[in-house]
Amino acid sequence: MVGVLSAHASVVSRVESQKPLVVILMGPPGAGKGTHAGPLSVHLGIPHISTGDLFREHFRQQTLLGKQAKEYIDRGNLVPDELVLNMLFDRVSQEDCKAGYILDGFPRTLLQARSLDERLIGKVQLVVLNLNLPDERIVERITGRIACKDCGRPYHKTFDPPKVAAICDVCGGLLFQRADDTVAVVRQRLEVYRSQTAPLIDHYAQQHVLKEIDSQNEKGVVLRECLEALPSLPATQDIR
Ligand code: AP5
Ligand code: MG
Repeated sequence: MVGVLSAHASVVSRVESQKPLVVILMGPPGAGKGTHAGPLSVHLGIPHISTGDLFREHFRQQTLLGKQAKEYIDRGNLVPDELVLNMLFDRVSQEDCKAGYILDGFPRTLLQARSLDERLIGKVQLVVLNLNLPDERIVERITGRIACKDCGRPYHKTFDPPKVAAICDVCGGLLFQRADDTVAVVRQRLEVYRSQTAPLIDHYAQQHVLKEIDSQNEKGVVLRECLEALPSLPATQDIR
């Protein structure tokens, strides 16, 4: 019986491994979602999609969506689901997402998670990496953060400084401090995280796709833990 079950499990895992990989990076503000999404994207060969970065780009382009989103972002509140869903589903319909993608900062509400489930269930191999960081570490990480205005790569003034002050090591873009990275706004983002996003941990635990990652460790250690939690997959289907 055990032999039959393990043979079945290996067939299931072979079938699963034929499917494109979608990785969700979850965790409170400052947990390291953006930091690790970049290297994971390079390693897995699938794009990194951050809803926060998409909104910031819309704002830079002065689109209506960008202006609407900024009202919420600057106060540390979530942008309404209907604005997020259209933007995100539009992005993941693009050609570069056909073999899978890494989501950073999405989903953040149960409605967003259920909408994503409807789109993906049965079609992809889903892995949710939940980056854990205690509150006292969050504030020091967020208030010391600077990020590239062109590629979004985050740095930290103390823990992860760029080689040349205010210049991105990767693309040469200028580094800036986000308007929502103040102590007061971070506290509000944390409240919002606890009330609206933390419930998704149970949602994904029930689907048996959740992996817990300790984000207190040094960056390289956290990245290794993330990689070890992921399957190494050839992606073969178009999931757009
Ligand atoms: P978003 O941009 O997603 O912000 P967030 O979730 O608050 O997360 P952060 O980007 O602040 O943190 P992170 O986990 O990426 O940390 P990072 O890697 O930079 O969203 C912004 C806003 O947009 C939201 O508040 C909301 O208004 C809106 N929004 C976005 N998505 C939405 C959605 N789906 N629905 C509704 N609204 C939405 O790291 C932080 C710092 O720590 C860096 O300085 C980094 O260098 C440093 N660091 C990282 N790891 C380590 C380490 N291991 N050791 C030392 N330092 C480290
Ligand atoms: Mg981020």
